Order: sequence, then structure tokens, then C-alpha cells
Amino acid sequence: MLNPNLFKIPKIIIALDFYDKKTAMKLVNVLNPSIYYLKIGKEMFTILGFKFIKELHQLGFNIFLDLKFHDIPNTVFNATKAAADLGVWMLSVHASGGKKMLISAKKALKSFKKNAPLLIAVTALTSLKEEELKDIGIQISLTEYILKLSQLSKDCGLDGIVCPGREAKKIKFLLGNQYKIITPGIRISKDLPHDQNNIITPKEAKEYKIDYIVIGRSITMSKNPIKKLDLIIKSME
Ligand code: C5P
Repeated sequence: MLNPNLFKIPKIIIALDFYDKKTAMKLVNVLNPSIYYLKIGKEMFTILGFKFIKELHQLGFNIFLDLKFHDIPNTVFNATKAAADLGVWMLSVHASGGKKMLISAKKALKSFKKNAPLLIAVTALTSLKEEELKDIGIQISLTEYILKLSQLSKDCGLDGIVCPGREAKKIKFLLGNQYKIITPGIRISKDLPHDQNNIITPKEAKEYKIDYIVIGRSITMSKNPIKKLDLIIKSME
């Protein structure tokens, strides 16, 4: 099993998007928690709740709780605090919730001091097409929109952003190396894009200096996930 931590390549977060625990655990049980991070999103959290996160913590995994909070500042404050109480390593909110909401999320983590999870803002979903922005009344380009929300999230004190691969390079240049970039929509050449619109390869992710890549269906639907992960790591070396 190859270890990406030995190379200067993006770290790998596996999106644990399954409908039942048994299937999820089949994958979890072959993953090394000192190498891979796990992302729990709306699907698994709705089915299995916080107890599942506790079980994964007991197995030694760092968890990215990707519930993408988007609500009034007070609700996001309380939800963020509740998520941090679970001891997760990273959690997400939607940058489009606005300045007050982002600042509230950041404030909710103040009392956790150095144990606070990384607070990450989703700029645009990797499934979003430029023309869909117009449908929701946004008249600027997708890239401009992502850059605007990235800058806003940084100004509000967040640790980083989730953004599509194509924009990642520009954001690193504009916002500096310390600001974390997390990118989903990762596919190797023969993989299906599924519903993702803005996809890049792991090799491109390395070139763009992305900190973490999120990989879901390429692994969760693979017959041999470890072989596939080794292939992904090799392609980035
Ligand atoms: O299966 P796939 O590799 O496309 O999975 C991508 C994962 O990343 C999903 O869990 C999805 O919820 C998440 N995600 C995304 N785009 C974002 C933020 C999160 O695809 N902007």
C-alpha cells in the first residue's frame, strides 16, 4: 500500500457516500487511518448520525464532516459548535451564506482553541455549470464567483475553501499557500464523470498545489479500492 504522506502530493479524503453501514465498513476496514481521511456527508450522517462518527474516531480516522451548513448566523453558530463537540477534524459551511454567517461559524469555534476543527467554506459545487449561475440570478462568470467567495471566506477568518480544480491554481496564487484548498471532482482518465462538471486528474491536483483531494465514486464503486488508490497515488508521484 502506497503512502501519499511520504510524497509532496495532495492528501486524500475518501467521500464515504454509501446508503448502508455494512457496505461502508467494507471499505473502511481496508483503509489505513494514518494515510486516508474520511468525509461523512449528508447521506451517511442522515442514516447513521453522530454515533457513526464516534465509531470511526475509535478506529483512528480523522473525519471531515461535510454537512455544508447554510442558514441564519445563529443556527450556523450552534450547528458548528455541535459539530466541533463531536471532535471532527474538518467541517464545511456554504460561503454563499454570507459574511455574518461565516463570522458566526468562526466564532463558534473560538472556545475550542487549538482543538478547533478546520473550518472550510464551499464556494461552488463541482457539479455547477456556468449557465446555472444565471438561473439563480448571478451574472458574473463561475471563476469570478468562486474567487469572490474564496476571498470573502479568507477575510472572515476561515481556514480554507472547497473549490473546483480549474480555479484552485488561481486561488493559491491570490490567497497564499497557507490557505487550504480542498477539491472534489477528481477522476483518472477512464473514470466516469457522473454528475460532476468541473473535474481534474490527481496529477493536475498536484500541479495546482491543492492540499486535499476528495475522491468518492472512483473508490466507493471500485472492485479493488486499494489498487485504485495506489494507481491514484502513483499518478501524482
Ligand atoms: O463521487 P465523487 O468523487 O464525485 O464525490 C464527490 C464528493 O464531494 C461528494 O461527497 C460531494 O458531496 C462532495 N462535494 C462536491 N463538490 C463540492 C463539495 C463537495 O462534489 N463543491
